[in-house]
Amino acid sequence: MNVVSEKNFDIRKLTSFKIGGKIKEVFFPENVEDFENILNTYPNAKVFGNLSNTLISSDGYDGVVIITTHMDKIEIEGNTVIADAGVKGPKLAQIVCEQSLSGLEFMIGFPGSVGGEVFMNASANSQAISDSLTSVLCYSKEKGIVKYSKDEMDFSYRHSRCKKDNLIVLQAEFKLLSKNQAEIKQQMENNLQFRKAHQPSLALPNCGSIFKNPQGDSAGRLLDSIGAKSMTCGGAKVWENHANFIVNSNNGTSLDVLTLMYNLHTKVKDKYEIELEPEIIFLGGKNEKENELCKILYKVK
Ligand code: EPU
Repeated sequence: MNVVSEKNFDIRKLTSFKIGGKIKEVFFPENVEDFENILNTYPNAKVFGNLSNTLISSDGYDGVVIITTHMDKIEIEGNTVIADAGVKGPKLAQIVCEQSLSGLEFMIGFPGSVGGEVFMNASANSQAISDSLTSVLCYSKEKGIVKYSKDEMDFSYRHSRCKKDNLIVLQAEFKLLSKNQAEIKQQMENNLQFRKAHQPSLALPNCGSIFKNPQGDSAGRLLDSIGAKSMTCGGAKVWENHANFIVNSNNGTSLDVLTLMYNLHTKVKDKYEIELEPEIIFLGGKNEKENELCKILYKVK
């Protein structure tokens, strides 16, 4: 196996939160075959794409991590598009737009990559990745490579079968609609404007929405109503313009973010008896305080 890897890798610079410590070993596969080989050797490896929805412990992680961003092949044939897990959302949105294909306009404003977006069924501006998806090539420890149809993926709001079944996304296939290119461009521009008006830019390190919206309600509204916008912990603070974003404003640590999340979670629970569920993924394990907070926030046993 001839794959780029690095031991004792400082991951902080790669994360959109600009938080994270040293990882025991990180692999950067360039294609699906390499990816499968690494997974066969390290079946418990943790897989990430653009690290835009992930909080990594400032104390690091004592295991193997695979970063998919070098896996960026896109194939287009007619209205069918096949994208590797590491393809970045904004790039895919631009490339399919050049072919006058519609269905992925929401991706223009999402800094994530295809694998993570399929995993969580990313959505914005009334469009979800599952809307235009036809199948997903996954890896499972037990079965190896399996292709699941859209129906088999069990998609719902911020959910796919990947988490429950421990599936890793290798590649996704989409069937897009032919549309006037100017309309596609206009929709992407509207999405970018929405993002600019409602969400922090990555110049303020952040990780997107922190909590999922509870059914029939909005995490942002609930958090706003408990005074979240004035809440801080160490170098992490709630963004002043939208209560469901935490920004790393002053060299925040993962413990700052988790503590702030816990305080937000507790206040909403006390007032509304609603337990907000984190949308962001956490990777750690070495810090006891963080482990305790994760037991409550992520219901880890
Ligand atoms: N609101 C408040 N106070 C706040 C923030 C929001 O009252 O501080 C209210 C707004 O007025 C609005 C409602 O809450 O009525 C919903 O807010 P918004 O329109 O900003 O959308 P959201 O539900 O917070 C979701 C996704 C975003 C996606 C946008 C646009 C989730 C958790 N978040 O945000 O996704 O971009 O819709 O479609 O579903 C992400 O997942 O990382 C993400 C950014």
